[in-house]
Amino acid sequence: MIPRETVDKIFEAADIYDVVKDYVNLKRAGVNYKGNCPFHDEKTPSFVVSPAKGIYKCFGCGAAGNSVKFVMEHEKVSFPEALRILAKKYNIEIKEEKLTEEKIQEKETRDSLFIVTEFAKNFFKKQLFETTEGKNTALSYFKERGFNEQTIKKFELGWSPSKKDAFTQTALKAGYKLKFLTETGLTVAKNDGYKFDRFAERIIFPIRTLSGKVTAFGGRTLKADKKIAKYLNSPESEIYNKSKILYGIYLAKNAIVKHDKCFMTEGYTDVISMHQSGIENVVASSGTSLTVEQIKLVRRFTKNLSIIYDGDPAGIKASLRGIDLALAEEMNVKIIALPQGEDPDSFAKNKTREELTEYFDKHEKDFIEFKINLFAGEAKNDPVKRANLIRDIVKSVSVIPDKILRGEYIKSVSKQLGVNEETLYSEVTKLLRKKFDDNRNKNYGKFGREPVKPRLPNETTGIYFEVIEKDILNFLLNYGNQIIEIDETEEKITVAEFIISEIKNDDLEFHNLVYKEIFRDYERYFSENNESVQEYFLKHENEKISEIAAEILGPKQELSKIWNTYGSSDDNIEKRLNKIVPEIIDTFKLKIVQLKTEEIKKQIAELPKNENYDDNLNELLEKLKLFDDLKIKLTDILEKTALL
Ligand code: CTP
Ligand code: MN
Repeated sequence: MIPRETVDKIFEAADIYDVVKDYVNLKRAGVNYKGNCPFHDEKTPSFVVSPAKGIYKCFGCGAAGNSVKFVMEHEKVSFPEALRILAKKYNIEIKEEKLTEEKIQEKETRDSLFIVTEFAKNFFKKQLFETTEGKNTALSYFKERGFNEQTIKKFELGWSPSKKDAFTQTALKAGYKLKFLTETGLTVAKNDGYKFDRFAERIIFPIRTLSGKVTAFGGRTLKADKKIAKYLNSPESEIYNKSKILYGIYLAKNAIVKHDKCFMTEGYTDVISMHQSGIENVVASSGTSLTVEQIKLVRRFTKNLSIIYDGDPAGIKASLRGIDLALAEEMNVKIIALPQGEDPDSFAKNKTREELTEYFDKHEKDFIEFKINLFAGEAKNDPVKRANLIRDIVKSVSVIPDKILRGEYIKSVSKQLGVNEETLYSEVTKLLRKKFDDNRNKNYGKFGREPVKPRLPNETTGIYFEVIEKDILNFLLNYGNQIIEIDETEEKITVAEFIISEIKNDDLEFHNLVYKEIFRDYERYFSENNESVQEYFLKHENEKISEIAAEILGPKQELSKIWNTYGSSDDNIEKRLNKIVPEIIDTFKLKIVQLKTEEIKKQIAELPKNENYDDNLNELLEKLKLFDDLKIKLTDILEKTALL
């Protein structure tokens, strides 16, 4: 906490003209000053600073406030952060008010880690510009790629020497604690005491937080050897959470606000090349698919997100996932496809800002057009694929929170796909209804309402798991060797392989301990010898297991009533394994997700109201959201199979 007197002192010192002139070119106009507004794009100045009143005001966009507000807006920082920036400018010492012991510890660790990353960044920079190795290998590589010196400096690129522990030794000698070197991942220390640099012999891309602090690094090898990972990145640490960071956000934030738009690319070099060509409102998700946190980060500055993707399948997939997340955050999402074989890096090279802007403006598509274009070919003559495409688009529309905007999109889908609006509305309503019902179920108890009946049978959870788990074993033991074809991938696979891989991949656990043991045993037995599996279980040494096997394999055994829609004679079931088996697994997953949701809600209700309450709550809510999304996804899949 900054003490009240210090806050007053900072306000007194921070003269509005003196503060603003660091950022804006101001000209005297009578008693005031005038300049081009930094908060919106303009050619004639409408931004006025009044030293007498201590305020700024833009007559173009309406931005206004005092000097602290100006720093907050311009640097995109919080109130205390703005005060700190100003205190530094005016050499005002801040004696922080007492923090709890724990908070101090935490802050000290974080501060130490940031001090280490700052030191490392400077070390790598120095290596790049001042050593023979750096100049000959890295600097010349950057120049070859077309990055000019100004760009290299702007992004503070660097070089980590080929000597395996050059950085570690320098840092230790300079007095940095090994603990912090390893915690930031810059140093890797083996148990036997051997220490080396994570990024040795790589060019360095420092990754910065929103306020410009170095939080992590990306290191690219210059070797073409396929066995060497092209990029290495800092591991997650107390100061680095990769799903919350966007590469380039610090350098982009002002431009994003100014142009009211953000371009999203995939990699470091994309951001850098676009900057060099004069486009600064650009960030990168660094190769991973976009997260909600990353979208929220952009959303602080603009509602308009344009995803630039290079046409490879991975790129398309990542964009698709990002679209729905961004739509749900009320963003206007556009997608820009580049010419075949280009990525933003290669495309931006040797182009001017005008050329790029012209291309982007011309090729920007909304997500509907994008999806239609993507699937139009295959969906044209295939009614099932077409239906799937429509559903997929409808689903995207349904996540848009704003009703009017949703309506606009429905109109557009209707026109572009030739489906009548009524039908689309009713599909969207169905999805919304489900979400609403789920939420209501979630709040059951709080409002004392009856829970809405789920579409699937409404046994209590315990019984339900019992039934599903037994059915899964039933499929394994009775149909394990049957071949099924998976819809999405058209992959042919045995029932056993399918079930085992699904259960293992998602770490699904059986609740009934005997069933759990049977599954484990089955898995092992199956991998060794899948012939006489039925006999093996019937003669199992564990009596409980052999009893259950007898039950499952016995003459009268039927699947539980849940699957009756598929007919109950065995003959019928065999023909429908393709559908039933994935459906039972998805249902199992759905039930587990529901259970987890319940658990989280309980944790939320019981969360202790201490100083970490907000953080803990947020974390739990994020988790809840994740499971909710999963729930919607699974329900959607299950509904689809039921519809077809
Ligand atoms: N990336 C990563 N780790 C990897 C691979 C990729 O972090 N193992 C991230 C990096 O941010 C990288 C981006 O994904 O910039 C895109 O990957 P890629 O297209 O392979 O790299 P480029 O940035 O295009 O690098 P270059 O042009 O130098 O090959
Ligand atoms: Mn590239």
